[in-house]
Amino acid sequence: MKKTILILLVLSSIFYACTESASRKPEKSQLEINKENAEKDKGDHVTDARLIPPLTSGQKKQYIDSAKFVAKTAFNIFSSHLKRLFEEKHPVEALSFCKENALRITDSLSKAHGVSIKRTSFRLRNPDNKPTEQEEKVMEIFKERIHKNLKPEPYVHYDEYGNPHVYLPIIVQEKCLMCHGDPNKEIPEEIVQKLAELYPSDKAIFFKKGDLRGIWSIKFPKKN
Ligand code: HEC
Repeated sequence: MKKTILILLVLSSIFYACTESASRKPEKSQLEINKENAEKDKGDHVTDARLIPPLTSGQKKQYIDSAKFVAKTAFNIFSSHLKRLFEEKHPVEALSFCKENALRITDSLSKAHGVSIKRTSFRLRNPDNKPTEQEEKVMEIFKERIHKNLKPEPYVHYDEYGNPHVYLPIIVQEKCLMCHGDPNKEIPEEIVQKLAELYPSDKAIFFKKGDLRGIWSIKFPKKN
């Protein structure tokens, strides 16, 4: 993928994500696509993985760079909205924003790039972000590396359908703890209450700085 085209796509998608009406119902949401993919994963594999030529190291780097760029864009869109909410209103408002917009933002970005973008974890807040088996395997690899004090490197391969697929680690930072840390010490009481209301089955607490929080799972279209 040419870098200039990518940058243009990213810019237009930022515009798209920010101007899109909140009430608009997407034709097919990322959530639906993720569910369909999870279903497909259970069924017959259309492509024999042995027939796909392995990615060259140059191709790997290109896909990883593109995936990092896409993930960073999504992260920046979230962060700028959250920052504004924190400045202007109340942190609790930010939670409702996440709940209403997280999937919508990745959805708009996915559409604009023709790539599928997903954020997932082994300890979920939103059950709609459920990982596939492959995503679970990759998270195990990342966790093991962190456990051994090694850096979790982005993972890239052709999936069983022949799509280049990149997985990037998401590491817990200090600033995440007010919503993903210890509810007795780090998460303010008002946020604890709002989380219980919005996410009754929340598992995404008690994380510590430096832990693996989850992954970005980014799937590129097949090259013909
Ligand atoms: C203001 C509170 C808040 C902060 C701060 C916050 N998060 Fe979250 N996070 C949420 C909410 C709410 C969700 C659920 C979003 C949804 O409904 O899809 C979430 C979901 C996620 C998910 C998706 C998987 C899941 O559990 O559903 C990841 C990954 C994640 N957060 C990582 C982070 C990281 C990394 C940071 C710090 C850089 C961070 N979060 C900071 C509130 C927060």
